[in-house]
Amino acid sequence: MVHSSPHCSLLVLPFLPLFAMTELQVSLPLGIVLFLAACTGHTLLMVVGLNVLYAWPLPHGVLRYTRKLDILVILLGPVLFWYALGFHDGSGISFETGARRALVTPYLFVSCILGLVAAPAAVILYHCRRVPKALLSGRAQVVDVARELGYLPAGRGKKAYLARLPGNQVCQVDMSERTFLMPQLPPEWDGLSILHLSDLHLCGTPDRSFFRHVLERCKEFGELDLIAVTGDIVDSKRHHRWVVPLLGRLRARHGGFAILGNHDYWLDATLIRRRLTRAGYHVLGNGWKQIEVRGKPMVVIGNETPWFRPAADLASCPAGVFRLCLSHTPDTISWCRANLVDLMLAGHVHGGQIRLPFIGSLFVPSRFSRRYDCGSFFEPPTLMHVSRGLAGQHPLRFNCRPEVTKIVLVTGPRQLASPD
Ligand SMILES: [Fe+2]
Repeated sequence: MVHSSPHCSLLVLPFLPLFAMTELQVSLPLGIVLFLAACTGHTLLMVVGLNVLYAWPLPHGVLRYTRKLDILVILLGPVLFWYALGFHDGSGISFETGARRALVTPYLFVSCILGLVAAPAAVILYHCRRVPKALLSGRAQVVDVARELGYLPAGRGKKAYLARLPGNQVCQVDMSERTFLMPQLPPEWDGLSILHLSDLHLCGTPDRSFFRHVLERCKEFGELDLIAVTGDIVDSKRHHRWVVPLLGRLRARHGGFAILGNHDYWLDATLIRRRLTRAGYHVLGNGWKQIEVRGKPMVVIGNETPWFRPAADLASCPAGVFRLCLSHTPDTISWCRANLVDLMLAGHVHGGQIRLPFIGSLFVPSRFSRRYDCGSFFEPPTLMHVSRGLAGQHPLRFNCRPEVTKIVLVTGPRQLASPD
């Protein structure tokens, strides 16, 4: 048995595993620090695990039950650590092993280390993400749809009650405009505009009037060259009927393009593709299409992997032509880079939907966890914009407003947009 002095400091932590076969008594303040660290580390492990799991093309039911189980395990963690550290019986705070705690104590050590080292590192790295130099300007106008309509368009979805929670930003939309400098752009394309819509999740909440209002406000962006819809369009068996009357309202000079996401995959993908086509969109699937924009060729690529496979075959795709890729998930960034995509537009991760002050997003379904939760990223040679999307399966948004984005591409000197 090893007893620490009452002034046992945090310096002992790296050596905690040395005590794994014995017992280490600690002071109450340090015990509280270790308890909080263990809870933080445990939560981090469970959240990242769930995020990575959600990147896999698993059946919806499996993911739904895994998420519930994961949340339950997160909540049980503090109870487990409370007992493991001995807070419950007043006999002193200690790390202890033995037959009873043989499994708990090693996990307690791991959680403490994660909480004290990995969690702060994750927050620091998150805030150190650099904005690409190619992003010349970014501004957003917040449209409070509930105020403009005069009522909360919560609709009749199964989870409409969530939309009514105080502080929920589900009806406050960022009408965002981002200007990117792309030196490889043909001079004729200077000022080319793309409306990026993602993750409508049509399921009854928000109501159809919400989407109609937002799409009408999109017309204030002025004439558009292209429209890109990056998946998760429908999220119920009935609301595919909304696709044509809603998305059919928009027009662009050189057409609208769409791909499907995982929620479309879990429903009737063929029907949703048919609705999109009837609304006037080119449904790319995992394919590509060469179009002419202001007299110059552009290749528009769809990437619906990992839910629909295989990825587009670009073997016969012309080289040296600007490549725009619509991908549901930002996880395909490596594929886009390998295939020399110039501009990639993605959604799927919704910005995390709930973003804690300073800490940021937590639940982000990506194999990169929250690395690409929203915003713009430059991974040479690909410039990627990840939209927070317009809605979600759960109508919950805190510190993470829905987003529609007008992307404007401009030409300019190469050194201004050099990799950063
Ligand atoms: Fe989505």
